[in-house]
Amino acid sequence: MPTPTGALVLEPTADGSMTLFSEDFGEWFHSRQGAYTEAYATYVEATGLASLAQAPTLALLDVCYGLGYNTAAALDTILRVNPACQVRLVALELDPRVPRQAVDSGLISGWPAPVQACLQDLASTGRAQRPWLEATLLWGDARQRIQAVETLNFQADVIFFDPFSPPHCPELWTVEFIQRLAACLHPKGKLVTYSCAAAVRTAFRLAGLSVGPVNAAGRRWPGTLAQIGSVGLAPLSQQEQEHLLTRAAVPYRDLTLRDSAAAIHHRRQQEQAVSDLVPTSRWRKRWLPLHQKVPPAR
Ligand SMILES: C[S@@+](CC[C@H](N)C(=O)[O-])C[C@H]1O[C@@H](n2cnc3c(N)ncnc32)[C@H](O)[C@@H]1O
Repeated sequence: MPTPTGALVLEPTADGSMTLFSEDFGEWFHSRQGAYTEAYATYVEATGLASLAQAPTLALLDVCYGLGYNTAAALDTILRVNPACQVRLVALELDPRVPRQAVDSGLISGWPAPVQACLQDLASTGRAQRPWLEATLLWGDARQRIQAVETLNFQADVIFFDPFSPPHCPELWTVEFIQRLAACLHPKGKLVTYSCAAAVRTAFRLAGLSVGPVNAAGRRWPGTLAQIGSVGLAPLSQQEQEHLLTRAAVPYRDLTLRDSAAAIHHRRQQEQAVSDLVPTSRWRKRWLPLHQKVPPAR
């Protein structure tokens, strides 16, 4: 995948923190309801990170590091609840301009000073080392970089999974990529994403993970918590279960982990056209009042 070159446009969100708009992907980096709020609520709180950080060690994989907000909210939380916790962090990001712009434009100034210093080190050198932290930011297409993470035998207690939405970035929502993520998840680990798309939840299941809904701050729809086994997961509602029986649940595929977005969309459309699953319009009619906007794709 080529490195993006389009403009990154600054925009304030409702909680006062700033986000960016990506011209290349045609999407905002965060919920407009609040970027810092989303990092805390959708990623840190949803995974119960504060309680996981009571352990002596914690391994965190941040997929799509972006401005580093999810990492920042995690580090802030860990430092507050258990500064003795030894943290190992691996983050993946395609576009080096993004974390650098976050630092250079002062977008990270709302985080505590020790957290800001880590984000600065990561943006400039790709590493942050402290007595309590060993962090690496790997540049490039996450579909290839994840293989380095697997080679390290990295087993994440928590995975933050925050790509642009499936219509805008299908490359990172495929069964094949999610299988690679699942291989990096500790047997007791938790993966969280803001998306509740049926195609995404199906991909998690095909990768051997159980899924449950989770609060996604600033969005009208829940996010998804995925893990090995269903213990402790909230059950999917009837509406959510039926969504998984529709053509919206046909997952994205990318056998070589190198296909373009267009090729991945095309393959899925072909699979949907011959699918035995019920049309998604039937599900929408049953569950979504006319005035309510269609959910996700995301
Ligand atoms: C929604 S934003 C992530 C926001 C981020 N988690 C934060 O807290 O600021 C999605 C990010 O995915 C990155 N991205 C897009 N395609 C990618 C790929 N193939 N591999 C790795 N990162 C990618 C984009 O550059 C962008 O930074």
